[in-house]
Amino acid sequence: MPTTKFFQGILLLLPLLVGCSMSEGFRRQGFKIIAHRGASKDAPENTLAALELGIRQGADGVEFDVYKTGDGWLTLMHDKDVLRTTNFKDVFTDGRSAKVSELSLAELRSLDAGSWLSADYAGEKVPTFEEALEKLRGRATPVIEIKPEDIGQDVAMIVQKLSIEKEVFVQSFSPRAISDFHKVLPEVTTGYLTGSKVSDDSVERAREHLRIARESGASVVVCNYKLADREYIEEIHRNEFFVWVYTVDDAAVMRLLMERGIDGIITNVPSVLRDLSGRGK
Ligand code: G3P
Ligand code: CA
Repeated sequence: MPTTKFFQGILLLLPLLVGCSMSEGFRRQGFKIIAHRGASKDAPENTLAALELGIRQGADGVEFDVYKTGDGWLTLMHDKDVLRTTNFKDVFTDGRSAKVSELSLAELRSLDAGSWLSADYAGEKVPTFEEALEKLRGRATPVIEIKPEDIGQDVAMIVQKLSIEKEVFVQSFSPRAISDFHKVLPEVTTGYLTGSKVSDDSVERAREHLRIARESGASVVVCNYKLADREYIEEIHRNEFFVWVYTVDDAAVMRLLMERGIDGIITNVPSVLRDLSGRGK
């Protein structure tokens, strides 16, 4: 092929190449607004309604928590049991366990996961992991938090089954869950969640968090916002990792963290962060 034709070919391919890197963009570039458990100030956490509202409030990514039922289904839930966020006590009066790991999917689905927050959400169900992923597909990045440390591979297999490896971000407080996830899907970008202060020295703290993140295969440190002072953020960046924080609802704190160069904020009120970051409605 003549040289000019070769370069013309490369030029024609450029948008495609840029498009490819854009699909990595959520994880790699630009400040991110992430809705925590959906837009969970206004809608019941970890329900499809909360995920939908997160998208509508302008989130780039929508975070939710994943557990496994007694009969092997992955579902959304933050706590080990369903007592706080469903009407379990009204439905089951026979003394059975309220732990997600001891309930069947059918039992979970018989619960109302919305009324505890507001009558407007009466009848909202506990979604399956797959339903949540389908709700977000092509609209916002699923930010999947693996709760029990032994379900990393189950989570990966569903992501693989739905062919959305390039669309998701996976995070956990458990390094084992992250490394298990990577055994199935090594290429997906993951985050190590931590609220551990480790040291009063910000640089030492950042290095310890980086060490654990690296060992588990994560490339983002997602920490409690109180740990993310300027030195901490700079040390994470010096090591070419990204740093996100949870969970910030106060506009002044959001602004401070953005001034310090934070890469992403997880919030119950994505609309507040959207307005603050100048993205408008
Ligand atoms: O996304 C981070 C944050 O969700 C971690 O804390 O307790 O809300 O799952 P938690
Ligand atoms: Ca979470």
